[in-house]
Amino acid sequence: MSIGLVSVAYVVASILFILSLGGLSHQESAGRGNLYGVAGIIIAIGATIASAAVGDITAIVIAVVLGASVGIAVANRVQMTQMPQLVALLHSFVGLAAVLVGFSGYIDPLVNVTGTEHTIKLVEIYLGIFIGAITFTGSLVACGKLDGRISAAALTLPGRHLMNLVAIIAAVLLGAWFLDTDSMALGVIALVIMTIIASVLGVHLIMAIGGADMPVVVSMLNSYSGWAAASIGFMLGNDLLIVTGALVGSSGAILSYIMCKAMNRSFVSVILGGFGQTTSSAAVAGEEKPVHETSAVEVGEELLNARSVVIVPGYGMAVAQAQNAVCEITKHLRDKGVNVRFGIHPVAGRLPGHMNVLLAEAHVPYDIVLEMDEINEDMPDTDVVVVIGANDTVNPAAAEDPQSPIAGMPVMEVWKAKSVVVLKRGMASGYAGVENPLFFKDNTQMLFGDARDSVDKILGALRNS
Ligand code: TAP
Repeated sequence: MSIGLVSVAYVVASILFILSLGGLSHQESAGRGNLYGVAGIIIAIGATIASAAVGDITAIVIAVVLGASVGIAVANRVQMTQMPQLVALLHSFVGLAAVLVGFSGYIDPLVNVTGTEHTIKLVEIYLGIFIGAITFTGSLVACGKLDGRISAAALTLPGRHLMNLVAIIAAVLLGAWFLDTDSMALGVIALVIMTIIASVLGVHLIMAIGGADMPVVVSMLNSYSGWAAASIGFMLGNDLLIVTGALVGSSGAILSYIMCKAMNRSFVSVILGGFGQTTSSAAVAGEEKPVHETSAVEVGEELLNARSVVIVPGYGMAVAQAQNAVCEITKHLRDKGVNVRFGIHPVAGRLPGHMNVLLAEAHVPYDIVLEMDEINEDMPDTDVVVVIGANDTVNPAAAEDPQSPIAGMPVMEVWKAKSVVVLKRGMASGYAGVENPLFFKDNTQMLFGDARDSVDKILGALRNS
């Protein structure tokens, strides 16, 4: 394939990637967005393989078949609740690729550039490997934390900020030496030492961040992996990789910002770590304050007598896989003339859009699924709010207690409704490890049990009435 045709194919692929991002920003168009992305990547891989720069394609075909088979098998097996750790693992691959491409770019004797161009190439290689190594080890630690293989608690070593600073200064000084040396052997030694420093830095940076901040970190590593891919693009002189890397890098950064805003946390405080230790839920459960317990039959009656109902799902609904039964309840109530809507907090669940995906899978109509800001003002006029496996995202302490660790985090103001029913298994705290005063309010009733069982029982009660 001629260089001109390859360039045209790359431009088409870039446009498809931009359309894909646009499509993925709305539920209705997300399927289309996915298709654009798949089409873009097929065109990109096809054009690259067919370009004159690639000779024997046997190794590429074997790698694509192997990679695709493993990818399909893993994606089919992974649960929605395990998605963050899978995403973190995939980011680590991009980081590793940047490191490997950087090393091969440096030792490749075929690439012979001189003068300023040579210095620029060396800077690209050095930066690409540095970002890649941090992304690689940082993403592996994030994956381990999310998967429970590594403690979710933040590792706060004394003088940790100083250690990070020393590591960065050492990497900069090594970089100066790397640019200065004419010996390839010494250059490789500088790269290897810097890679070790960056890898340790990646582990240390992410170990210092607690479990509750981990989804933001995954989104941040997503951004890093984009910049790592862009740096690979610069190293290889591949425009498509530069554009794609920049798209991933900037969209990851924007997403991290949105998530920080939804949790009222500053981006810098997330990166510096030290927040998000999970406190023992037993300690919370130990305080015996009275709560009002209810039964599935009573909840069924209350729902049938209501004019307006808001359902607020959280991580527990995902764990219990209760979304299909929740959809059935919704249909039943809507058939009886009850106005049922869903209220979704931006960080409900464990990754952005987690709840929206589950509800879309269960075929809940999009137009009754509203965002927090859209539904909060209707809470005082709502007869019943049903909270299903949500906790931090409905915690009034965030709005009412300036001393609370989650003070200032925007939350679903469910307590303003006439009546609130909370479905959860016990009195355990949510991900942030903070007690929730909602459970003890006069207008709150607790329906204890696995969310799936409770929802099934409510559905049974509705059908029998
Ligand atoms: P959480 O606050 O984590 O609460 C989930 C609740 O579900 C728990 O209190 C748990 O109580 C209950 N639960 C668990 N399994 C259940 C089951 N099988 N049946 C019934 N209930 C069950 O969830 P949330 O309100 O969705 O908040 C999300 C949390 O993740 C927030 O702290 C948020 O900051 C954090 N976070 C999320 C994101 C994104 S992007 N989603 C990003 C960063 C941080 P029991 O054990 O008593 O049942």
